[in-house]
Amino acid sequence: MSAVPRDLLPDHASLGEGGHLTIAGCDTIDLVREFGTPLFVYDEEHLRERCRQAVAAFGDGAVYASKAFLCLAMARLAHEEGMRIDVATGGEAFVAMSAGVPPERLVVHGNNKSEWELEQALDLGVGRLVIDGFDELDRVERLVGEGRPAPAVFLRVAPGVDAHTHEYVATGQDDSKFGFTVANGDAARAVDRALQSPAFDLRGVHSHIGSQVFRAESFAEALEVVAGFAAPFGLPELSVGGGLGVAYVEGETAPTIGEWAATLRRSADSLGLDARLWAEPGRAIVASAAVTLYTVGAIKVIPGTRTYVAVDGGMSDNPRPVIYGSGYETFLPRSIAADRPLAVRVVGKHCESGDVLVRDGRVPADLAVGDVLATPVTGAYGHSMGSNYNKMMRPAVVFVRNGDARLVVRRESLDDLVRNDLI
Ligand code: LLP
Repeated sequence: MSAVPRDLLPDHASLGEGGHLTIAGCDTIDLVREFGTPLFVYDEEHLRERCRQAVAAFGDGAVYASKAFLCLAMARLAHEEGMRIDVATGGEAFVAMSAGVPPERLVVHGNNKSEWELEQALDLGVGRLVIDGFDELDRVERLVGEGRPAPAVFLRVAPGVDAHTHEYVATGQDDSKFGFTVANGDAARAVDRALQSPAFDLRGVHSHIGSQVFRAESFAEALEVVAGFAAPFGLPELSVGGGLGVAYVEGETAPTIGEWAATLRRSADSLGLDARLWAEPGRAIVASAAVTLYTVGAIKVIPGTRTYVAVDGGMSDNPRPVIYGSGYETFLPRSIAADRPLAVRVVGKHCESGDVLVRDGRVPADLAVGDVLATPVTGAYGHSMGSNYNKMMRPAVVFVRNGDARLVVRRESLDDLVRNDLI
């Protein structure tokens, strides 16, 4: 098996001195010396470029879904590049605002927003409040009745479309906890109610059919349903949510943000849709911008069965293989162009057999203990879904750009592990 495919690496990855992987002019082996492992390395210009593509495609309706990867530096970057920020909790809103994102640039989501999350959204005047159900209509109406300003609102609808993705991340079907169902009339009832009440400044409908969706046609199908549903109300905006898939392993291909937008726009034109399109990409902005670097600590060969390669991270920094059975590639940053003939399973250091990072990986034959091993396309839902399981300390995150490495999230310390404990 040949070297890791180029298109799975960050845009500014290149073959550096001695065959090392260099990202934006930074030798990854040097980064490990400076920052340790496990380490998330993001190509900053790649992130910025993806944000610019989203803004070019959707203008003021381009929203970064911060759940994919959020820290102060990322929120500021997406904001600087002109994206609004989708927040799913008060915590995400807090981080975004702490980075200087004004409340009016936030799009607030959640199928069960708490009282304080709603109060905050209303008091601060967030950009759009995405209302998810009848209980929330009641709650917002009450809170506005107490003297708060009427929020600019999207109503989230479930269009009844199969996104052809993993069950856990499919959200557009009728049997979903999210949104007002179109098929049974709930969505129409919700729109009527929002239009009649002075508590809502209804701007449009929102749908999100799922995540890691490869077929642009699935989005077009959803748009057809949602646009058909919304047309009689003449609302000015329509959000298609996020969900654009990315390639994780050799042989996968996904539409670019521009291609996704073009498909949506063609579909909108053919439907005669007047409303301005909004979209909320998360994964497509950040996933392939990053690689995770680990150190190999143990190699266990079971002759005739398998070779296990154990690294110093695992399901606490990337739970996706365990949760969704997601596939990843692996390679050695010290020999980026080398063939990878050796079949291995890359595992973490957690105390369970399910702690797998790469089920069927390939590495160069001279892999040895002490090597730095990388997994590409780990920029989305790795750091953000990470945990302290087994009291692991969350990894550091660096942004690299023009030969400079900037620490944007410091590695957790032992003290962090007991910071909230009382005795
Ligand atoms: N908008 C809404 C309302 C969403 O619920 C999501 C993702 C997005 C936008 C962004 O979707 P993206 O473009 O990133 O696919 N943890 C899973 C993905 C869960 C996505 C949840 N919602 C994973 O690792 O695959």
